Amino acid sequence: MRHEWRPVKTPAHTPAADPELLERLAAEYGTPFWIWDADVLRSRIDAVVSTTDSPGVQARFAMKASPTTKVLQEMRKAGVWIDSVSGNEVLRAKHAGYPGGQEPPEICFTADVFRDDALKVVLKEGVLPNVGSPGMIAQLKAAGYTGAVSLRVNPGFGHGHVNECDTGGPSSKHGVWISEAQAVREAAEAAGMRVTMLHAHIGSGPQFDELHANLSRLADEFATIAPTFKDLEGVSLGGGIPHDYKNPDSEIPLERLRDLFAGAQKQLSAATGRELRLEIEPGRFYVAPAAALVARVTDVKATETNEKGPGVNFTMVDAGFVDLVRPAMYGAFHRITIPGAQDRDHVPTVVAGPLCESGDVFTRDDSEMLQPRELPSPATGDLMVFHDGGAYGYAMASNYNSIGRAPQLWRESDGTITQITRRETVEDILKLEI
Ligand SMILES: Cc1ncc(COP(=O)(O)O)c(C=O)c1O
Repeated sequence: MRHEWRPVKTPAHTPAADPELLERLAAEYGTPFWIWDADVLRSRIDAVVSTTDSPGVQARFAMKASPTTKVLQEMRKAGVWIDSVSGNEVLRAKHAGYPGGQEPPEICFTADVFRDDALKVVLKEGVLPNVGSPGMIAQLKAAGYTGAVSLRVNPGFGHGHVNECDTGGPSSKHGVWISEAQAVREAAEAAGMRVTMLHAHIGSGPQFDELHANLSRLADEFATIAPTFKDLEGVSLGGGIPHDYKNPDSEIPLERLRDLFAGAQKQLSAATGRELRLEIEPGRFYVAPAAALVARVTDVKATETNEKGPGVNFTMVDAGFVDLVRPAMYGAFHRITIPGAQDRDHVPTVVAGPLCESGDVFTRDDSEMLQPRELPSPATGDLMVFHDGGAYGYAMASNYNSIGRAPQLWRESDGTITQITRRETVEDILKLEI
């Protein structure tokens, strides 16, 4: 069925903009908490699926961005397959209803290193391993694996949304350098494995045009080497559709990606003389705008200017980098609002959390320096919302400082709200101790 082309829009009335609703939820579940909006998530899933709505083109979800069962079930309903990166992610995908096996390979397992239960899970569940270094062929062989493998290559170009995300080039750890791909194929064949997929993830460069150019270049590179891969069934161009965290409603020209994917599928099929499957596996674009973190302002305070630097207004909140680590980790920008406070005067303020870490600050610039944000003058007791946290938000949360992970709530289209993960307790934390 061909999708009607729809531009991607963030629905205007999200629960994160409704102060009364948020107060009610805060009273019931405490703060901080995450709130998902099913409509926003579905609109994003629909948008990605629209880009793969051509013969032989298939979307996966890089589940590391948000591995919660409810989110995976939404992906599955929409026909989106899974890219997993650990044995446990494979098991979580299965828990959400995805089948193991490779007919078709709905779950792909992309790894830089096999650790923990990964090899055991690959063998038991029969999922397609996407091998990222030559030695992994020998490790699969030693484990008794003789099935199909995918080969992740480093094409030598591409980069992520920030400098820390180096996804392609000499300084990237991911994949096998492209000139070694044939040698690894030969090693795989000698070990009784068929290389059925070629894969690369070049990352969501900061600009859409750059991503588009890099994906076209990647398809050309694959078309050059694909003919010698006689067992090839598919080629994956990886993930990386960017989400604009500063202007989440800005329209991304996804129709250009649909044309690119359809063209690449034809190009690669022509190069090999058989119909290949062209895959993509975005993570963040599906989920980023669909969840927000809601925290309580616990205090406002200020430092004074002295010989070390200018004074700063601080807004203290009860959420920290244990909940949303992206700003502390790479200076990532998240919009911050105080629902119901839009008429107040704006003041510059640094927003900081409860952790015993000076780096527990949400407002940073690209070089990770403190950057006060102009916000409606915050007051103790306000609720503060950190937007666009659906990707690598809860997924990267930790229980550092023995603070339990905040609960995730889910707003359905009809307005009903349910809890999809509860708050982590000290009993959960102590359960691991022997
Ligand atoms: C192999 C692989 N595929 C897909 C993705 C998803 O990238 P994004 O969330 O930027 O779309 C990642 C992200 O790190 C990745 O490593």
